[in-house]
Amino acid sequence: MHARLLRWYRLARRDMPWRRRVSPYRTWVSEIMLQQTTAASVAAKYERFLRRFPDLSALATATEDEVLERWAGLGYYRRARNLRRAALEVMSRHGGTFPSDFDAVLALPGIGRYTAGAILSIAFRRPYPVVDGNVIRVFSRLFGLRGRAKDPAFIKRIWSLAATLVPKKDPGDWNQALMELGATVCTPGSPSCGVCPVANVCVAHKKELQDRLPTPEKRREVIAVRWVCFWILRNEKILIWRRSQKERLLKDLWGLPEARQIAAVPGRRLAAVSHAITHHALSVELREAAWPEGRKLPQEARWVSAKKATGYLVSSLWLKLLKAASAGVG
Ligand code: ADE
Repeated sequence: MHARLLRWYRLARRDMPWRRRVSPYRTWVSEIMLQQTTAASVAAKYERFLRRFPDLSALATATEDEVLERWAGLGYYRRARNLRRAALEVMSRHGGTFPSDFDAVLALPGIGRYTAGAILSIAFRRPYPVVDGNVIRVFSRLFGLRGRAKDPAFIKRIWSLAATLVPKKDPGDWNQALMELGATVCTPGSPSCGVCPVANVCVAHKKELQDRLPTPEKRREVIAVRWVCFWILRNEKILIWRRSQKERLLKDLWGLPEARQIAAVPGRRLAAVSHAITHHALSVELREAAWPEGRKLPQEARWVSAKKATGYLVSSLWLKLLKAASAGVG
């Protein structure tokens, strides 16, 4: 099984920017990005991030807003904050060199057992296992293990299995082969068993249980959210709004002010878009609004030039909304 899977990986792996050149820093950044964002999306933004922050010290000396700006569109912005905090810790605790000790890596902000295992195995060639949703699905099917992919007891069982299977030689390729197989062949719906390099030893394939392993999850309910946002322009500057830590969505990030946050005089409708964030379905309307001359600015608000505004509005929701507005949609 090892030989087949490794051979397949070396031939069939997707060409991804983080695979062209490997270093602890590059692997770390890519694995944080890949935690909750698809490989295609990460591939489009990875090199741009690395050009701006080519090494740990560049990341550690940047401001949080600068890091968020380059994280734009990747979602789950807490990851970007933790990335910067971790870079600061590596500078202060480890003299600027990314640690190679598992516990030291695990102790960094934003790094759990999965990411620590990925960095250690891929960048340091140390035999630590990794388990993500892909690996859970691959092992569940390969060995015919019944369980829910989100059940902690089941996940624990997969971790033990992964630990016994990770090879001493090329553990990073092995781990990535499992993830790659899960992402491209052993997919959740209609897996491509015909091209799978390990179908010959797969229990699910033999018993035709692919659809029932792992046990399908009940669908999470989608919450509908409606926002009315304001486009407030004055002296060629736009009013942006720092969302509070208590917000349910896009907390602690710059956005356009919402009607419920600010008292402005609503005007013409400029655009309306739909956008999904986790299990929320947002419908967002953008309205022109006027800012009364002489009224005091709330401390959450700031005027910025139209050119600079996009550097603050990092969620792809805003990009979508502004594009729709300039195209006259809505
Ligand atoms: N998903 C997360 N990390 C990955 C990697 N290194 N290769 C393939 N898929 C991944």
